[in-house]
Amino acid sequence: MAGIYIHIPFCKLKCNYCDFHFSTNQKLTQKMVESICEELIQKKDYLDGEPVKTIYFGGGTPSIISTELLKQIVETVYLVFEIVKNVEFTFECNPDDLNNEKLKDLKELGVNRLSIGIQSFEDEQLQFMNRAHNSNEASNCVQLAQNNGFSNITIDLIYGLPNTTEEYWEKQIEKAIKLKVNHISAYCLTIEEKTVFGNWYKTGKLKLVDDEYSLSQFKLLQLELNKNGYEHYEISNFSKNGFISNHNSAYWLGEKYIGIGPSAHSFNGSSRQWNVANNIKYINGLRKNEAYFEIEELNSIDKFNEYILTRLRTKWGVNLDGLFLINDEQKVQTLKMIDKFIKNNDLQLIDDTIYITQQGKFIVDHISSELFI
Ligand SMILES: C[S@@+](CC[C@H](N)C(=O)[O-])C[C@H]1O[C@@H](n2cnc3c(N)ncnc32)[C@H](O)[C@@H]1O
Ligand code: SF4
Repeated sequence: MAGIYIHIPFCKLKCNYCDFHFSTNQKLTQKMVESICEELIQKKDYLDGEPVKTIYFGGGTPSIISTELLKQIVETVYLVFEIVKNVEFTFECNPDDLNNEKLKDLKELGVNRLSIGIQSFEDEQLQFMNRAHNSNEASNCVQLAQNNGFSNITIDLIYGLPNTTEEYWEKQIEKAIKLKVNHISAYCLTIEEKTVFGNWYKTGKLKLVDDEYSLSQFKLLQLELNKNGYEHYEISNFSKNGFISNHNSAYWLGEKYIGIGPSAHSFNGSSRQWNVANNIKYINGLRKNEAYFEIEELNSIDKFNEYILTRLRTKWGVNLDGLFLINDEQKVQTLKMIDKFIKNNDLQLIDDTIYITQQGKFIVDHISSELFI
């Protein structure tokens, strides 16, 4: 089974932290949708006829696109690929785009999982991040979606924001829990170079919070969500009653997926490819039949490192048999390193699989990089 990701590269505003690929100039929307449909047709054989079990519209901001244009993309997806009946169809939305009409339209298009980018429930922080929505929209959009029949909802939050207190974060978690969503993604703020925050950081206008502070917010998040029945199944992801993101889990478990739209990545088991992160180059590439993506064949070292990188962050762990060990010398080195982390209580070994411990979760990036070849 496979997945399809569609990247919608437009946003209303440029959030101060975000370096994902998007443009705030929406003049090319119609042409972009035509190109996305064209790419879907061109890549019809990429998944080797495997049935598609997850569709994911991400961005950018998919919810700013008109229903008519979205319909064109969805119809092309269904025309080109075999989609399973109980497909998980996730759609990323920003709170300010949600109203009864939009939600009804999304339902009719077959969307059955909404991912809503709330980030914060407070105006001061929303304005600081340059989000397009306000605290009322943040608080009301989930119920609006639930009233329109969406029961599978995930929300995004950001922690580790400068100038926030422990009480601030506690309140955000509390509000999130009250919404009764069955999935929460919470990301620690990262300062990316080519963003407004990156620029403020360089010029001294923005100070980073120290690691201890972010860590205490992460610990609080884990504690409160676990207490309220959410399973911590990946470093940034928590789900209730098994409502994990099947689409993202497929990435972490190394399954095939095709990514359509500028900057989207694809993986077919042996190679990765990625589209150009530029709207005009993408549209022209498809129109003039010029290169708009690059391909990288994965060698055994890449496969080994990717396996560690993606699996260690999840509840499924790293199966030692599944490691693509390069040679005996490397195997000894890797096992020695694993042993060091087990002794330090950062990893645990159960039936040939290594799992990240509660303590290890705080330094998972460090552990992964130490295990890389
Ligand atoms: C690329 S956005 C797309 C979703 C949608 N446009 C939105 O704004 O909600 C996906 C998520 O990544 C997270 N994110 C993006 N940049 C981040 C950063 N620099 N630090 C922490 N989280 C970030 C945000 O929580 C965001 O909701
Ligand atoms: S966080 Fe979402 S809305 Fe903000 S710039 Fe990034 S993709 Fe666009």
